[in-house]
Amino acid sequence: MSELAGLPADFYWGVATSAYQIEGAHDEDGRTPSIWDTYCRRPGAVVNGENGDVACDHYYRMPADVAMIASLGVDRYRFSVSWPRVQPGGRGPVNPAGMDFYSRLVDTLLEAGVAPWLTLYHWDLPQELEDAGGWPERDTAHRFAEYAELVHDALGDRVSTWTTLNEPWCSAMLGYDVGRHAPGRTDFADAMRAVHHLLLGHGLAARSLRSRGVTDLGITLNLGVSTPASADPRDVDAARRADGLGTRIYLDPLVHGRYPEDVLADIAARGAALPVHEGDLEVISTPLDVVGVNYYSSHVVKATDDPAAPEVVPTGRPVTHMGWEIVPERFTELLLRLHRDYGVPMAITENGAAFEDSADPSGFVDDADRVEYFRTHVAAVAEAVRGGADVRGYFAWSLMDNFEWAYGYEKRFGIVRVDYETQERTLKQSALWFRDLIAELRAVQITSESTS
Ligand code: FCB
Repeated sequence: MSELAGLPADFYWGVATSAYQIEGAHDEDGRTPSIWDTYCRRPGAVVNGENGDVACDHYYRMPADVAMIASLGVDRYRFSVSWPRVQPGGRGPVNPAGMDFYSRLVDTLLEAGVAPWLTLYHWDLPQELEDAGGWPERDTAHRFAEYAELVHDALGDRVSTWTTLNEPWCSAMLGYDVGRHAPGRTDFADAMRAVHHLLLGHGLAARSLRSRGVTDLGITLNLGVSTPASADPRDVDAARRADGLGTRIYLDPLVHGRYPEDVLADIAARGAALPVHEGDLEVISTPLDVVGVNYYSSHVVKATDDPAAPEVVPTGRPVTHMGWEIVPERFTELLLRLHRDYGVPMAITENGAAFEDSADPSGFVDDADRVEYFRTHVAAVAEAVRGGADVRGYFAWSLMDNFEWAYGYEKRFGIVRVDYETQERTLKQSALWFRDLIAELRAVQITSESTS
């Protein structure tokens, strides 16, 4: 408990998921394909040719899943809305049957005493909008803002916390540059256009939600620390570039209303540009109430002959089933740096790890490795808070095992085991640990309140 000293009494705890990773029901009640439905059907794109058609069948098991969430004692549940479920095709009127699912989800959460934390976009762009050019097209930003309004029309009376985008770096870079995420395109210039239009879409949606009275609004970014492999100026420059395209290209415009000059120069040197129109940066820097930080790992980088492609150097630290090094001390460093450079309130909207779970005959997983990951990372957050970082809450990724994008179902991040044959859910040791941690912290708070 002492390693958690300093966390504020109103620090909140939650679990997180996203629509495509758990819902299934991919073509029901009027839902149309997203870029992920399409990408999964591309041969070789996803491990074992898997997809989210059924996933965890959460669309049909939602009430029981919410009861399970509530049984953990969490304050909040972070989920995302599937755009093609509520506005098929990404244009035009709302699909009432699709929106009704989220309305029921929100009601069920509120009845169970769990506050909904809604993310509007966790990567499932309606396929029609990709066919019209996707995020490299400016119009997609406007479509996104319109979609945000439709969701707010339906749920704004009951949902107070709104996140626009989850991890725009993944949408832009993995989706349009590296091609390892949907839509699987490989053009750096398109990826840079996508970066700007994702940020513009965020800003337009944020401005509109704010004008409708939303006071708990944010965006979620995947962040880490890039450390140079040596003091060699080339390695130092490789780390600067990685930080530029990973962190500053998002947070500088969001918080300071400008893109970093060095990053603009790097992009120009690669023959690309950010398609900024007059007034865009003002929109993008609409004030944020919270920055969501997703943290999994950090990298040590070394320059190569291609300045755009630094090498990630293994440091010998233990890795998760994703091959990601386990470096909680960098998490503390990251949060302190974000506090120093951006001064924004933060929430950890994702943190967690995939390990090679083995279930006993009852389905139980004694995941000591995952418990240790959570314990050390939660402690790292508390350390950052003691150092002055303004972190308000923590969400474990993920509530349950689910469709891990290009890795399919092979990588398990859940604190709850899902048997994909039967859809049976079984709390792992990490879920019990998380539940007990929350209960213990509450008990300590209640005791200290009654003695003060
Ligand atoms: C993040 C994603 C989330 C999940 C975790 C492991 O990048 O936001 O959906 O895949 O990684």
